[in-house]
Amino acid sequence: MLVREHKFLNFAEARALAKNRLPRGIFEYIDRGTEDEWALKDNRRAFERVKIKPHILKTATTRSTTVNLFGHDYAAPLVVSPTAFAGLVWYRGEVELARAAAEFGIPFCAATEAITSVEEIARATTAPLWFQLYLWNKEEISYNLIDRAWNAGARTILVTVDTPVMPKREFNYRNGFDVPFQLSVRNIVDVALHARWALSVLGRYVLSSGIPNFANYPERYRKNLLKRGTGPSLDLMPDLSWEHMRRLRDHWKGNLIIKGILRQEDAILAKQLGADGIVVSNHGGRNLDSAVSPIEVLSEIANSVGSSITVLADSSIQRGSDVFKLLACGAKAVLVGRSMLYGTAVGGAAGAMQMMKVLRDELGLTMDMSGCRVLSDIDRDLLLCP
Ligand SMILES: Cc1cc2nc3c(=O)[nH]c(=O)nc-3n(C[C@H](O)[C@H](O)[C@H](O)COP(=O)(O)O)c2cc1C
Repeated sequence: MLVREHKFLNFAEARALAKNRLPRGIFEYIDRGTEDEWALKDNRRAFERVKIKPHILKTATTRSTTVNLFGHDYAAPLVVSPTAFAGLVWYRGEVELARAAAEFGIPFCAATEAITSVEEIARATTAPLWFQLYLWNKEEISYNLIDRAWNAGARTILVTVDTPVMPKREFNYRNGFDVPFQLSVRNIVDVALHARWALSVLGRYVLSSGIPNFANYPERYRKNLLKRGTGPSLDLMPDLSWEHMRRLRDHWKGNLIIKGILRQEDAILAKQLGADGIVVSNHGGRNLDSAVSPIEVLSEIANSVGSSITVLADSSIQRGSDVFKLLACGAKAVLVGRSMLYGTAVGGAAGAMQMMKVLRDELGLTMDMSGCRVLSDIDRDLLLCP
């Protein structure tokens, strides 16, 4: 049943509504890719190229989309992706999204670069919490952060390894979307033109807790989104290596997932290192512009590691049939980013939940149309890949 006030029937409609509501700088930060946006476009083309060869006369009334991940049962094979600044799409957007995930029954992955602390998100949700780690150049501070996540109840961390340097997102430079935000006539007008967002999101933050900041950073390194740095800075680890992953594996007693893998041998190394899972991802087409699309390499990667570790995948999922195709190529579940941000931007927790329902229902429909009763019925034999 659709929530009446959030009348979107699919990803494209939610995106259009979000585009209207959000200042252009924020919308483009979410929506776009990097450089010439080849990876972004190709992610969609790669999904389009893959066709489904459906079974007939196998539809079952008992069809289910449930999945078990790391010992927990979930309503659908969806995980809310970690996304920086998610709290900017709605007042306390990260909390809204986490609540929606808990109510709907899927994991929410909190991000290092969130504007709500992992403790606050944990307090707001009843579901198992995942935490995404960007390793900082001061490793011990990163360990303190994951210890905080552990104490807050997180038992699964996802360490992102596909951002060794900052990508070249030219639209962000033009929009002044950086930390600190660059104030210019253009982006002040942009905010003024989105009065509803200015009042209901930015205005509420300013009146309650002040200008948003990176809440997971230790206090002496924490900057708000407008403040130029005067104190010491905390940057991403410049020479991130397998050695860091080994130390992380020793330190973290919960489930460790490595996010951003696109090659078989890296997947095998992750498994040998003792990782519990991997995410086959090109970061939603936001980092390396000539990167392959996950669906092009997922089957070979999944085959190379077998079922002993949990294979997840993401990037540019817009339909339940995209989810179906990634599951058919060997993913146990998928991560969804932009779709969740757009749902939240349109209606807070209710909008996020509606987007989850849309994707879950479209997946169910694709399963019904293809003669699949449970997720394990979805296999590679159902696909025709170019
Ligand atoms: C606005 C935005 C911010 C993101 N921030 C992070 C981040 O902080 N850490 C991370 O590992 N991935 C980040 N990602 C990548 C997502 O986790 C995920 O890999 C990707 O968005 C999936 O593609 P989709 O958004 O098209 O579903 C971000 C993505 C978006 C759209």
